[in-house]
Amino acid sequence: METIIEKSRTIVPDPILRDYDDASRTFQWKDAYDRIEWFDDGRLNIAASAVDRHAGSWRKNKVALYWQGNDRARKYTFLELSNLSNQFANVLTDTGIEKGDRVFIFLPRVPELYVSFLGILKTGAIAGTMFAAFGPEGLYDRLHDSGARYLITDSELKKRVYEIKDDLPDLEHIFVIDEIDVADDEISYPEAMKTASRTFDVAKMRPEDPAFMLYTSGTTGKPKGVVHKHLAIVQQHVTTEWVLDLHEDDIYWCTADPGWVTGVSYGMLGPWSCGSSVVVYDGRFDPDAWYGIIERYQVSVWYSAPTAFRMLMRAGEAYKNYDLSTLRHICSVGEPLNAEIVHWGMKAFEMPIHDNYWQTETGGILIANYPSMPVKPGWMGKPIPGISAAIVDGDGNRVPYNTEGDLALTPDFPSMMLAIWKNPAKYAEYFKKGWYLTGDRALQHEDGYFLFIGRADDVILTAGERVGPFEVESALIEHPAIVEAGVIGKPDQLRGEIIKAFVVLAPGYEPSDDLESDIRKFVKTRLAGHAYPREFEFVKTLPKTRSGKIVRRMLRAKELGLPIGDISTLEE
Ligand code: WTA
Repeated sequence: METIIEKSRTIVPDPILRDYDDASRTFQWKDAYDRIEWFDDGRLNIAASAVDRHAGSWRKNKVALYWQGNDRARKYTFLELSNLSNQFANVLTDTGIEKGDRVFIFLPRVPELYVSFLGILKTGAIAGTMFAAFGPEGLYDRLHDSGARYLITDSELKKRVYEIKDDLPDLEHIFVIDEIDVADDEISYPEAMKTASRTFDVAKMRPEDPAFMLYTSGTTGKPKGVVHKHLAIVQQHVTTEWVLDLHEDDIYWCTADPGWVTGVSYGMLGPWSCGSSVVVYDGRFDPDAWYGIIERYQVSVWYSAPTAFRMLMRAGEAYKNYDLSTLRHICSVGEPLNAEIVHWGMKAFEMPIHDNYWQTETGGILIANYPSMPVKPGWMGKPIPGISAAIVDGDGNRVPYNTEGDLALTPDFPSMMLAIWKNPAKYAEYFKKGWYLTGDRALQHEDGYFLFIGRADDVILTAGERVGPFEVESALIEHPAIVEAGVIGKPDQLRGEIIKAFVVLAPGYEPSDDLESDIRKFVKTRLAGHAYPREFEFVKTLPKTRSGKIVRRMLRAKELGLPIGDISTLEE
């Protein structure tokens, strides 16, 4: 845990971060405000800050989006993106859109998704994104709760919308991106775009006005609509510089879908606000395809998630067949980045993978391993300047270093959510004694780095000891036969809970008693006595969210025969 790996190939860090300790003492958010585009009257618009200002600068003919489909590829410059999104904003305006209207996008990662997202923001409406994998129920929850008035989709996906459309009284306009002859109550996107003007008077928004929203699942109940404001761009911008280390000549690939907050904040807004070229790959996960993207586009900065790295790890040495020499910085988010993966990254890419931590609710990165600092494998890093993160007890008091507690933040940063849509009570639940509570358990070392322990509700209590499923899973996947593990607490009369591990084996391994006893021996040497799993189950796959997080509550529910709860954000 304590090993420290020296810096990766960073370019000179942002001046603010050259001295982190100084920055975290002195930095104020207003120092960052002048880094994004403002209108004269103190108003702004995320889409103008992200794209239009580059379209009006020397970057106008720089490629903003390299789009790669399965058998097609396209490029869009900043000027083209700006013009196209102006056109779509005009199309929306012609239909009578009003500020604050909810406009949802239900598309694969096609260029129209990116164009329409920006166009919606330009009108002052609220843009909502959804994974193309959603079924009618997931769609209904989002479109109904948000009262969406507009939907942008394609001829294939719209079929799922029609299954529930009668129950969506607010849904007035459906844009179809790949049809000219559409039904009476639909609008053909390509037809409407043909005649739309390329100039648009972008809505000047107050910093606190809503801009976009995403639905996220809690442990109970339906998914909740997290609403973000235009001001969020300030944090997305500076964290893209500080953490993702994007510079003028970088080619940046974020593997996240915009249905997930990472695909919005760091798949589009942050990197474009820095004037960076972004690669979007609209295809399924496949190690060869992924390494091929890095090689073809000469990707230099890559942002992905632990599950993806684990899947690449499982593909063995496939990376050897590609020229990945342009890579200079790699980041990860969304779930614990086990030390094991960082060490694998050192082997495969000759540089550490940099973990960072944040949430849908926080709209931007909170805690990170900075490119300008050594990486502590297995640790999330240090808070970004401008927010204060702390470990607190149940009464909101700070606990000493190296003591587990609730990870809390002072909620005064620009990308903090504005609201939970139509649910002020749920919003209020996040705050206690001046803190925003993340719902995560963590600890802080005296060197300032934070260690993730688990969701507050996943922490296992066995024989009076608290055990984080993450540390057990990390130990398990160090065994050569194991590629993935999910660990839960299972009620036990004697110990309160015992630890049960669900493990996925690497290709070439078959479950057997011998293998199980070998794994038992292996983890016993790595974990404290109370932390080693008493029960094992070999499984083919683990339940995951679309963003790749192992959903332990599903493992637990299945194990105990309990109701599974909301599964709309799950992979399968
Ligand atoms: C978890 C993701 C460990 C955490 C952008 C958090 C992490 C939740 C990390 C938010 C990390 C995110 N290490 N756990 N680096 N990053 N998490 O809303 O439990 O999809 O509260 O946003 O993911 O997930 P969300």
